[in-house]
Amino acid sequence: MSKWASALVLSALLVSPAWAQHKTSEAKRYGIGTPLDPKALAGWDIDVRPDGSGAPPGSGSVKTGEEVYMAKCAACHGEFGESAGRWPQLAQGKGTLATDDPVKTVGSYFPHLSSVFDYIRRSMPFGDAQSLTNDELYAVTAYVLNLNDIVPDDFVLSKETWSKVRMPNAGGFYGDDRETAEKSFWNPKPCMTNCAPPLAVTGRARAVDVTPGEKAKGAD
Ligand code: HEC
Repeated sequence: MSKWASALVLSALLVSPAWAQHKTSEAKRYGIGTPLDPKALAGWDIDVRPDGSGAPPGSGSVKTGEEVYMAKCAACHGEFGESAGRWPQLAQGKGTLATDDPVKTVGSYFPHLSSVFDYIRRSMPFGDAQSLTNDELYAVTAYVLNLNDIVPDDFVLSKETWSKVRMPNAGGFYGDDRETAEKSFWNPKPCMTNCAPPLAVTGRARAVDVTPGEKAKGAD
């Protein structure tokens, strides 16, 4: 069964009435557990998928985002995402990934809009995480995209416009294909000529008494 299918079965189990009843009777029997408060769960349930599903209501323009960014982000990331001091750079870096000095930014590296949005939503501004309103979050994300020339100056980001965003490095990620692409490396007999004889175990540390046992404990 695929990971997705088992996750589906599991979530079906978790919400099925039979399961719920089982949990309730257990809770009664042992006097443990409290019903999960949907409001508390909502605070954790903030993941967004690449297609935008799960994104919160709200919207924000590049223009408003610039104000948010200048007030809450520029001190570290620089006015144009160029980075202030040694804080991470958010813009530029295109074409550097395969060089000795790759610069991973929203434009050069991030594969999905949801990766950027989720990152900012969970952790920025650094030190004051999750302090932005949803509208500020949309706006500042739109501004960071604009800094990377991904959306125009008049762009307004929302659930509705989500799918218009094309991340430049979206094609730079692919599934792990080493099992097929590097199949030739997984040769059980990698040596082809002039091979050393296979190693043989000729003695064990315990048998030849080089490992201190009980007797030797605290001897010195
Ligand atoms: C106090 C400094 C500081 C402020 C202010 C700040 N950040 Fe950050 N930001 C960081 C640091 C540090 C990291 C890297 C964290 C890590 O790698 O664990 C980061 C990482 C990021 C990243 C991911 C960069 C990458 O390529 O991996 C994004 C996007 C980002 N910040 C956006 C923002 C936005 C938007 C704001 C304003 C709402 C903001 N940051 C405010 C310090 C800051």
